[in-house]
This record gives sequence, structure tokens and C-alpha cells, in this order.
Amino acid sequence: MSITENKPFSAPRPQAYAQIPDPIFRSAWKKDSKLPGPSPLLADFITAIFMINTPKFLLKMQRTYGQTCSFFLSRRLFIGAFSPEAVHQVTVAQQHNFVKGVGFARMRKVLGEGLLTNEEPIHLAHRRMMQPPFHHGNLDSYVALMHQLVEQHTNNWQDKNEIKLAPEMMALTLEIVSRCLFGLDSAQYTSAIASSMEVAIDRIERTMLPGLERFDNSAIKYFRSFEQASDRLVDIAESIIKKRIESGEKKDDDLLGILLQMQDQISKEHIRDEVLTLILSGHETTANVMSWAFSYLSKNPKVRLMLEKEADEAKWITEHRTPTYQELEESSPIASAILQETMRLAPPVWVAPRIATVDCQIAGVNIPKGAHVLVSQYVTHRDPKYFPNPESWQIERWLDANFENSLPKGAYFPFGGGSRKCLGEYFAIAEARLILLMVAKRFRLDGKFPKVQPRATYRPKGEVKNKVSLR
Ligand code: HEM
Repeated sequence: MSITENKPFSAPRPQAYAQIPDPIFRSAWKKDSKLPGPSPLLADFITAIFMINTPKFLLKMQRTYGQTCSFFLSRRLFIGAFSPEAVHQVTVAQQHNFVKGVGFARMRKVLGEGLLTNEEPIHLAHRRMMQPPFHHGNLDSYVALMHQLVEQHTNNWQDKNEIKLAPEMMALTLEIVSRCLFGLDSAQYTSAIASSMEVAIDRIERTMLPGLERFDNSAIKYFRSFEQASDRLVDIAESIIKKRIESGEKKDDDLLGILLQMQDQISKEHIRDEVLTLILSGHETTANVMSWAFSYLSKNPKVRLMLEKEADEAKWITEHRTPTYQELEESSPIASAILQETMRLAPPVWVAPRIATVDCQIAGVNIPKGAHVLVSQYVTHRDPKYFPNPESWQIERWLDANFENSLPKGAYFPFGGGSRKCLGEYFAIAEARLILLMVAKRFRLDGKFPKVQPRATYRPKGEVKNKVSLR
């Protein structure tokens, strides 16, 4: 029996949210010389190219038309805001002039009103409740658990010659997020979550253009499977909550415990949506970073040797014990640079779509109310002005202590910015550093560099098979 009433797939947009302004159609658009772009008459052709490889399309727009440019998708005005200044204005300085845009309405059909997809006034209230366990001062106990789970998971690799890196990383990061945040062993849900996520992530991206939502309740199999995937994920989140309630355990040292103790302030549906959001946003992103990072290491054996040396010298590894968050940070300059450079070129969240709710000015350009605005980690992280030789994976840039501080605000933002910045930033960083160092200490992975399959996240295509050898 279900413990909640309304499923996210068919729930209406909450009335408490700001109204979404009407989009700007090409017939109403007056050309603006500060917003160059392809002719609005090419809208249908441009939409087709956009769908084939969206990150590449956005990069092409920036390279051809400049840091702020316009194009029409589904005949609606979109503005690319790619300079660091524009990114900072949209995500931080003027964030109150925007709401989350294309794709998020689709994502809401899976995640409901959880932190990633909700809006004010719900967002701030939930964020306040959920923030404390993620503060980096409170992460030591999570690091201890993560350490144990990485050890256990990679023990299974000892007798193998080959692993499927992408599903391995998905299972490991899912296990970490489930155990740390919900006190739950996720093994029984791993394959159901993976297969439902595959469909949800694909449909969110492939069907994000305005207008396609009218097919959601049709009998077309492609859209039906979106609803089925969403419902399956809801069932899993409900079963996690039910198990905790039935166990009678009143722990308040994990996130589910905290949420359940606040039931006078947060509804059952909202607790379910937060559980869903944390499971899904809390493992897929990190898993993708790990698959890309190990793939870059396969291609860069010199850097892999540097990482292995760092792992061999880390005291907590040689002493077979858990590090504190701070000790982990201090012992991992190479691992950190590997992760930063990997998230520069393969940012799991590669675009942040917004809608302007008022007329405003961003980096000296007029943005009309109703315009879709796209900032993109994929594009801005490839700006040669800040990242010389931008397509080349060079961890050395991050080893210079002054480099990161010399970047202008908005030049590097894998975790977003402003009040919508990633809640799990420090959690993800700790987990990723641990995985890199603990794997490097015991194993060497070798695999072909995967192709990309850009969807709602920047995913490697396929299983990413890797040879495993013991060091
Ligand atoms: C390397 C891994 C990760 C990356 C690159 C990443 C990136 C991001 C980005 C860019 C956003 C903002 C999206 C936007 O503004 O449109 C975001 C939001 C969020 N992330 Fe992460 N994330 C990662 C891991 C995690 C983990 C491990 C968790 C939880 C355990 C998490 C939970 C969230 C939540 C709840 C939000 C919504 C925050 C809000 O709006 O208040 N993320 N993430």
C-alpha cells in the first residue's frame, strides 16, 4: 500500500510557485545586435541539430556568435549566457530574476518537489532542514562509512580480470548514498534503480523541449515507459521510508531520520520527494565523474603513477585506518587535481537552464522576461582565455596554488552557484577522493576511452569495460 497520495508524474505545478511567464515566440522577437545568432527562420533546423548533440551545439553557438547569443528552439527564444560574468549574474548575483527552466519540469515528473526541482518558498524551507548533515564540518562519520564501503566493494575486484566500470561505479555510489543518508543497504534496489534511471534520464533530456509534454499521457510506448520508470522509483523511495518507520528506529544522525522527525513541518509526499532526489542526484553524478576520471587515467599513465605514489604515501592508507575529512583533503592534492580537471571537461551537470521571470540585464545585454537562458559548464569550462589548450586534460593547471583563485567568478562551476548550489558538494568530493586513492593503492584499471552519451547528465556511453590488475 502506498504511503503517499500524489505521484510526481501527474502532479500539477504547486500554486505557491511563481508563475512561469509566456515564452517569446519568434514572431514577437525584435532583433538585438548584442544577441547575435542564427536566423529565427532556421528554428526547426536548429532544433534538430540541438537534439543530436546538445553540448557540442552550445559550444558551436558560443564559438560562432560569442559569449551571449540567441537561437530559437521549438520556435521559442533561447539565450546562451557563456561568459564567466554572465554565469555569475544568472546563478548568483541576479538569481532571483530566474526560475529553473527547460528539463526541470520534466525532472519534476520523476523527482517531485525535492530540492533539485522545487522552487521558492518550498526550496529555502527544505534546504534549511537538510543542510546541516552536509556541512563539511559534519562529514567525518560519512567518510568513515564511505571508507568501509569502498573497501568492501573493491574487494570483489580481486579475483576479476575485467570489470564494467560504469555499472560498478553506479552501484558503489548508490550504496554510499543509501547507507550514509538513509541507513539502508541498497543492494536489493540497485538493478531496479539503474534500469529506471536509464529511462528517466534519457526521457528527461530527449523530451525536454517545450511542447513534447503533450505526449506524456499518450499510449506511445516511448512516453509510457517514462511514467512507468517514474512510478517504479516512487515505489522504491516509499519502500525505503516504510522500512524505516516500521523498524521503529528513531535515529537522527542520518538524513531520513532528520526528515521523519520534522513531520510537523514537511509532508509525507515531500519527504518521499527528498528521498528520491537524494538517491538519484546523489549517486549518478559522482559515478559518472569516477568513470571519466579512471578513463582519463588510462590514457595518461604518467598521471596514474603520480596518483599511485600519492596513495602509497597517504598515512591513513598505510596505517589501514579511516581518515578524517581534513586528513583526506590534505593527503590528496593529485587526486583533487584529477577530479577538478575531469569535472572541467566532463562536468556531470553540463547545462543549467533557467527562465527569466522579469526583464533584466546580464553582462550588459538585455534579457527579456520569458526568455529561456542557458548557462553551460561544458561551454564555459572550455574557454581558452581561462583554460589554455582547453580540450586537453592537464591536471597540472590545478597544481599551481594560485590558479583557481585567479579564475573570475563563474569560470568554473561544476557544482553550480548561489542558493541552488549543490547540496552534496563536499560529500561528493570526499567520496570521489576516497575512491580514487583506495583504488589506486590496490589496482590498476585499463580501458578504452568511452564515447559520450550526453543526457540529463554527461554520461559515458556503454559499460566502459576495464581490465583490472593487482598492483
Ligand atoms: C560530482 C558530483 C556532483 C556534481 C558535479 C553535482 C552538481 C550539481 C549541480 C551543478 C547542481 C545545481 C543544478 C542547477 O543549478 O541547476 C546540483 C544540485 C544539487 N545536488 Fe549535486 N552534484 C553532485 C553530487 C551530489 C551529491 C553526492 C548529492 C547528495 C548526496 C547532491 C545533491 C544535490 C541536491 C539536493 C541539489 C539541489 C540543491 C538546491 O537546489 O538547493 N549532488 N548538483
